[in-house]
Amino acid sequence: MPPINEFRLPEVTHFGWGAVERVGAEAARMGKRALLVTGRSAMKRTGVTDRVCSLLRAAGVDVFTFDEVEADPSSATIQEGARVALREKRELVIGLGGGSPMDAARAIAAMAVLDGHILDYTRGKPVDRPGLPLINIATTAGTASEITPFAVVLDEGRKLKIGIKSVHWFARAAITDPELTLTMSPELTAATGLDALTHAVESYLSTGATPPSEALALKAVGLIGANLRAAVADGTNRQAREGMALASMLAGMAFANSGLGLVHGLVHPIGTRFGLPHGLACGRLLPAVLRFNLPAAEEKLTHVARSLTGKESVGADDAITAVEALLREVGVPSGIADLQIPADQMPSLAEDGLVAGAVRTNPRPVSKDDARAVLDQAREG
Ligand SMILES: [Fe+2]
Repeated sequence: MPPINEFRLPEVTHFGWGAVERVGAEAARMGKRALLVTGRSAMKRTGVTDRVCSLLRAAGVDVFTFDEVEADPSSATIQEGARVALREKRELVIGLGGGSPMDAARAIAAMAVLDGHILDYTRGKPVDRPGLPLINIATTAGTASEITPFAVVLDEGRKLKIGIKSVHWFARAAITDPELTLTMSPELTAATGLDALTHAVESYLSTGATPPSEALALKAVGLIGANLRAAVADGTNRQAREGMALASMLAGMAFANSGLGLVHGLVHPIGTRFGLPHGLACGRLLPAVLRFNLPAAEEKLTHVARSLTGKESVGADDAITAVEALLREVGVPSGIADLQIPADQMPSLAEDGLVAGAVRTNPRPVSKDDARAVLDQAREG
């Protein structure tokens, strides 16, 4: 742990049932003309987009909706959103949805101010100033993009998903409202919940972990162990939904500051090439990565095992079996055997999996051969 550590969060986080009602007042303090960035259908279908627009108009904020965000937003979508923001003279950006719309909103808010192309920044050009003020409203419980300063963007030319991070990219206001997660299907609940679990565990084990990030991450592990099964089994279970929304938020606060680990490197090439949603890819790879990390993280994995199972008499190995049991119980296979990945793709999957910054804070250093061995193990199921 470095001698002095920083801890950054959004300027304000609104958590709780009905927190979405705060969007009008928050937006009004940032400007009069908002760009609402959202996906193509889910939030429209559930009426949440209309509700947010009404709340904004009631607060005297004009809204222009950019609802072109696809799953895993491409650089072209980001550039188009930024063009729309400038053309419509928007003063702030509001993201609404899961990780994809919220990441897109963050990148669009940035590119409305920055020079050049978003892909320049995925290749190392420094983000040297804040974007337009950003509000992010989460409608899933997993990605925590309302909390973090990350955006994952698809470089469509190179078929690579790349994460970018900047201290300038924290939202001015984050809204985590469990009520907005009630309409998630069991499948989406499981996938996003496993993303939250992976954030919590990887943050806790990260070489960038600090006392505050560890406290938040371990609390999130416990909440997920206690609530994910129930949220998947019955989406109307308000206690379970609240527990998962809180877990996602806390894990986001943790990993925004600590960084993540090898799972969040390997999932990007697998997700892009085989169309596996991010959260599912995370959950499926977590056991194999934990097995690899075990020698470097025995004590911490013992704490993970205790939090996840609620039992004191468990050891580090039990963290892995507890994750596997949770996967089984929420209907997600462990490993990637069923993807039938051709053997000749394995070396480049391992290589592309090491590109992400997340790998740098993995508790055990990872060589190309190590990444390959982890993927081979996951491929065996
Ligand atoms: Fe994630």
